[in-house]
Amino acid sequence: MTAAPDRADVPRSAPVRLWEDGFAADPRRYYAALRAQGPVGWAELAPGVPAYLVTDRSAALDVLRDPETFSHDPRAWEETVPADSPVLGMMRWRPNALFADGAAHVRYRATLIDVFDLVEPHDLRARVHRAVRLLAGRIGPRGEADLVGDFSRPLMALVLNDLFGLPDSQGDRLDEGLGKMMEGGAQAAEGEAQYARYVLELIEAKAERPGDDLPSRLLAHPAGLTREEVTWQVFLTLGAGYEPTANLLSNTLSRILGNPAYYSTLTSGARPVMDAVVEVLHHETPLANYGVYYARRPAVLHGVRLRDAVPVVVSYGALGLPHGPRGGEGAPLAGGEDAGGRHPRDASHLSWGAGPHACPVRQHVLLLVTEAIERLTQWLPDLAPVLPRERLSWRPGPFHRSLTALPVRFAPRSPDQPGVPS
Ligand code: HEM
Repeated sequence: MTAAPDRADVPRSAPVRLWEDGFAADPRRYYAALRAQGPVGWAELAPGVPAYLVTDRSAALDVLRDPETFSHDPRAWEETVPADSPVLGMMRWRPNALFADGAAHVRYRATLIDVFDLVEPHDLRARVHRAVRLLAGRIGPRGEADLVGDFSRPLMALVLNDLFGLPDSQGDRLDEGLGKMMEGGAQAAEGEAQYARYVLELIEAKAERPGDDLPSRLLAHPAGLTREEVTWQVFLTLGAGYEPTANLLSNTLSRILGNPAYYSTLTSGARPVMDAVVEVLHHETPLANYGVYYARRPAVLHGVRLRDAVPVVVSYGALGLPHGPRGGEGAPLAGGEDAGGRHPRDASHLSWGAGPHACPVRQHVLLLVTEAIERLTQWLPDLAPVLPRERLSWRPGPFHRSLTALPVRFAPRSPDQPGVPS
C-alpha cells in the first residue's frame, strides 16, 4: 500500500476484457494495455465483472504481504455478481485455505502442508515414472501425439488420482469437470457441478474406507476438520494441482520443442529441464491471473482508490513480462536474456505467489514436472513439433495460460525396445 494521493476514484480507462478470445491469442497486448494504465489497471474477468489487475511487482508484493488490508474472502463480492456468472466456479467462497484469512487460514493451510509433507520425493518420483511409463507405452507405437491431451493432462490425472486414492480410470471425469470450470466460460457451471460430484463421492468413499492417501490423511488429521471442510480442501487441492501443473508441463514442453538448439542440449543433459521450467514461470506462467484479493476497507493502492467488493487480482502473467512498448515482445523463447539483460535465473519471479497464501507445494510441483519431462524425453528422444510455436493455439479464459494442443511426431517406439526406461 502507498500513502500517495489517489489517482482516480472511478477508473477512467475502458476495462481490458480478459474474457475475450483475443486474450488467449495475444496476452501481451492485453497486459501492455493494462500497464499503460499504471501499476493497477482496470479489467473485466467476465462481461460486466470488473477487477483491478495488479501488473507491477512492487504493488503486487504490497497486496500479497498485507493481510491486514487485503482479504482472500470473496463473500462480499459474490453479492455483487449474478448467480450464473461464469467466473463464480473459480472464485466463490468455500471453507478451505484459499478463501480463508487469519487463524482459519492457518488451520486449513497447516493440514495441507502436513499431508503433503508425507509425500516423500522418492515416492512422488516413482508415481510420476509409473504415469509416464503408462502414457509413453500408449503413445510410443503411434509415432505422433498431442502432448497436451495425450500426455500433460492425463499425466496429472494419473499422478493426482494416485495420490488421492482413486483408480486411474477416473481421470477423464476429473479432466472434463475441472477443464470447463477453469475456462470460466459458458460451460463453467456444468463443470463445477461435475467436479464437485467427483470430490463428494471421493470423500464419502474415504470416510467409509480410509486408505493410504491424501483425503484419508486429511480426514484423520488432529486439527479435526469436518467432512465438509475436508471436501472443500480436496476440491481446492485437486483443482489447484491439476490445471496449473498440466499447463506448466505443456508450456515447458512447448518452449523446449520450440527451440531445436535447446532440445538437443537438453537430451544430452547439458541444460537441465529446470532451466526451461523457470523460463516458463518467468514468461508464461500457467496461473496467470488467479491471485484474487479484496480490500477490507477503503484503501489506495499505488495511486488507485479501490472500490468496495471489487477483486484486486495479482496478475502473475503480467508481472513476468519485461516492460516494453508491447509488454515484452522480446521475452526469450528459450535460454536467452530478458529485455532487462538478465538471465532468467538471476531474477526472482512471483509465480508461486508470496505472503501467507503462497503455493504450499512448489517443491513437489518442480520435482513432478522436471521428472515427467526428463522421463518422457528419455522414452522419446526425437520429439519434433508439428507446428511452429506461433501457430499453437491457447484455451480461452481470464485465469490461465493453457495450450489447446501440442502436436508432435517421433520415430515409433514400443515399450519393450532396448534403451527404453523401465
Ligand atoms: C500439485 C500441484 C499444486 C497444488 C496441490 C497446489 C496447491 C495450492 C494451494 C492449496 C494453494 C492455496 C494456499 C493457501 O491459500 O494458503 C495454492 C496457492 C497458489 N499456487 Fe499452487 N498448487 C499446485 C501447483 C501450482 C502451480 C503449477 C502453480 C503455478 C506455477 C501454482 C501457483 C500458485 C499460486 C500463485 C498460489 C497463490 C495464489 C494467491 O495469490 O492467492 N500452484 N496452491
